[in-house]
Amino acid sequence: EDGYFQPQMRKVPTGELMQPSRKTNGYGVQAEDTRICVVMVGLPARGKSLIAQKVVRYLGWLSIPAKTFNVGQYRRSNTPTPTAEFFDTSNAEGERLRRAAAEAAVDDMIRWFAAGSGTIAILDATNSTKDRRRWIQERCDAEGIETLYVESKCDDGDLIMSNILEVKTTSPDYKGQDPEKAAQDFRNRIKNYEKVYETIDEDESDMTYVKLINVGKQVIINRIQDYLQSRVVYYLMNLHLKSRSIWLSRHGESNFNLSGQIGGDADISDRGEAYARRLPELVKQSAGDRQLTVWTSTLKRTIQTARFLEYEKLEWKALDELDSGVCDGLTYAEIAEQYPEDFKQRDDDKYNYRYLGGESYRDVVIRLEPIIMELERSENILIVTHQAILRCIYAYFMNVPQERSPWMEVPLHTLIKLTPKAYSTIEERLKADIPAVSTFREKGSLAKHQ
Ligand code: ADP
Ligand code: F6P
Ligand code: PEP
Repeated sequence: EDGYFQPQMRKVPTGELMQPSRKTNGYGVQAEDTRICVVMVGLPARGKSLIAQKVVRYLGWLSIPAKTFNVGQYRRSNTPTPTAEFFDTSNAEGERLRRAAAEAAVDDMIRWFAAGSGTIAILDATNSTKDRRRWIQERCDAEGIETLYVESKCDDGDLIMSNILEVKTTSPDYKGQDPEKAAQDFRNRIKNYEKVYETIDEDESDMTYVKLINVGKQVIINRIQDYLQSRVVYYLMNLHLKSRSIWLSRHGESNFNLSGQIGGDADISDRGEAYARRLPELVKQSAGDRQLTVWTSTLKRTIQTARFLEYEKLEWKALDELDSGVCDGLTYAEIAEQYPEDFKQRDDDKYNYRYLGGESYRDVVIRLEPIIMELERSENILIVTHQAILRCIYAYFMNVPQERSPWMEVPLHTLIKLTPKAYSTIEERLKADIPAVSTFREKGSLAKHQ
């Protein structure tokens, strides 16, 4: 068992609410049997690897097992630092080695599916000829693996050039080489690919594909078959390349935070109020004159915290704190006393533990999915939300695994700025110098904070 689709098992003490066990992937659909190979298509420097990496992160966050198989990485084991000539199709040795790399990647991918837990594989390569795509199709068909071709087409010369400078000159292919020479060689590499590149067209109308043209300015979709495929396509349609940041803050300290109670809909404390008043200045310091949109939950403490911010505001029910069910309003010490088994179970598997009549972190991630989708579509957003919610959103951007994300420290009265870059997200933290209690509880502790 891979742990991904296991039902949520918990002992239900007598007299307590019964909960159905679940054997779904969280979408509420049976997805165990679906196996999809996402086949990237396009010239070099069209964002294929970046798209692949984002899709894997998104799916992983949703507990859908996904993995990238990058042909370039396999090729580096036989040809670590090729020059542009290597990619000239009249170079027989180059052709042989590239074919070997593609075969090794596809073989590994098929083994990964056969091992049982894989749902979505991404074959990250140029796959730029019909012949190559036909071969992949045959291999996948033989294994009963669905294929979804994702072509990134882009003819914006300036963008391609900046892509080359952003990610290609620092590629291991050009290790130790002068970036200017590397960029020139990479342009020549692209020219070699252009000689044989065949875009997906009517000849391939029986295939399932999506063509992203000029970063989603135009999107062509063909024969999308099932739910997971359509989720992936929808995600791809929402991606953009504009530079932007996302700011995250918890609400100001609340009266429940002071008393150590969880959940509820308390007002902010005097110190929480001081944070609310300081927040506009803190945001200004970090965002300058950029126009932000502020998202809060529907609970009083986030709305009160955001009320001095002079930006457009939106309230989202999906941003409300994790529902602690029958434990709402209790302190951790009271939970440990009244529900000792539950308290221990939560410590043992905090991500999956679902409060009686409430939610687990896993449940929260599912309800946050539309938030993540909207964030991908948007530019500068400031989210004022709650401890558990912030952890889940943060985990998406920073790729934090499920074992760790529910245990992350996210202090009160701190503004977090996340700036997505090509292959990483930059994080900055700004502390408002206003004291607050710590609501962090370490595994095994009762967190009797003062
Ligand atoms: P490839 O895998 O196609 O060779 P990379 O993923 O390594 O290309 O290129 C990353 C660069 O491409 C980044 O600078 C990123 O901003 C840019 N990029 C991302 N998506 C796209 C797209 N749809 N079209 C063109 N460029 C893109
Ligand atoms: O204590 C503040 C709080 O936001 C509670 O309302 C919520 O139940 C809790 O934090 C979530 O954190 P954890 O999952 O660590 O208990
Ligand atoms: C590569 O060798 O870097 C590579 C991506 O190969 P292909 O042309 O097969 O995609």
